[in-house]
Amino acid sequence: MSQVTRDHLLRIEDLTVNYGQLTALDGVSFSVEESSIFAVIGANGAGKSTLMRTLAGLHKPIKGRILLDGEDITSVPPHLRVARGIALVPEGRRLFPSLSVEENLLTGTYRARKGTWTLATVYEMFPWMPSRRSQRASLLSGGEQQAVAICRALLSNPRLLLIDELSLGLAPIVVRSIYSSFGSLLESGLTVLLVEQDVSQARSIASQIHCLLEGKTTLFGGPRDFTAEEIEAAYFGIAKPNLELGTL
Ligand SMILES: Nc1ncnc2c1ncn2[C@@H]1O[C@H](COP(=O)(O)OP(=O)(O)OP(=O)(O)O)[C@@H](O)[C@H]1O
Ligand SMILES: [Mg+2]
Repeated sequence: MSQVTRDHLLRIEDLTVNYGQLTALDGVSFSVEESSIFAVIGANGAGKSTLMRTLAGLHKPIKGRILLDGEDITSVPPHLRVARGIALVPEGRRLFPSLSVEENLLTGTYRARKGTWTLATVYEMFPWMPSRRSQRASLLSGGEQQAVAICRALLSNPRLLLIDELSLGLAPIVVRSIYSSFGSLLESGLTVLLVEQDVSQARSIASQIHCLLEGKTTLFGGPRDFTAEEIEAAYFGIAKPNLELGTL
């Protein structure tokens, strides 16, 4: 039997998700420490979004377990996971384009937990937001929409924030400004599990990285435990010569 230590907020065990015949996630296990940033990396189609969506309750695993604070939540439906403190910033932001910024933010308060995040506190974090609160979300730039999507998730007062592809399509300066807001998030006790295709970005921000390839784990550990070449090999599935291939 596996043990869950108190400082691990999330633990997944042997998580396996199929789409019909395709196994998109294949026996993945890891633990995420409380108040840390954990990055999932991997090439297109590796299963990163499937993992995030499964953690949010949007896909049902055919095998394995998801434990939040030691409690098995594998069968808990999505809206009740929000109430337990899991919030997802989905790939592609998925704002309601015809709703205003503020209306989009308020959708995050459905099933919200009590906590420090309110409209006032998210507006404090992104000072440009209040003056644009009545604007349609579709008029915002990509980076601004990403900020709104993160704030919408924060308004549920999560313990675990899942962010799928924070930097995709965003200018590096915008990514840096969003990442720089993470310091205070961690201090507030939040745990962040993010998907990041930019490996150097993942290495600079996360305390743990976990690489997937075709649904399987190919590498995990601290970002400085590996060379760039080792990470690249795990990322693209390049076999390393002279390693475990002794007979060749
Ligand atoms: N709804 C679905 N139905 C069938 N197959 C799917 C579905 N969603 C994803 N897949 C397949 O599952 C695999 C994993 O997809 P997933 O979206 O999780 O990858 P990803 O790592 O997030 O990729 P990307 O970096 O392109 O976002 C891929 O082969 C994909 O084609
Ligand atoms: Mg994806």
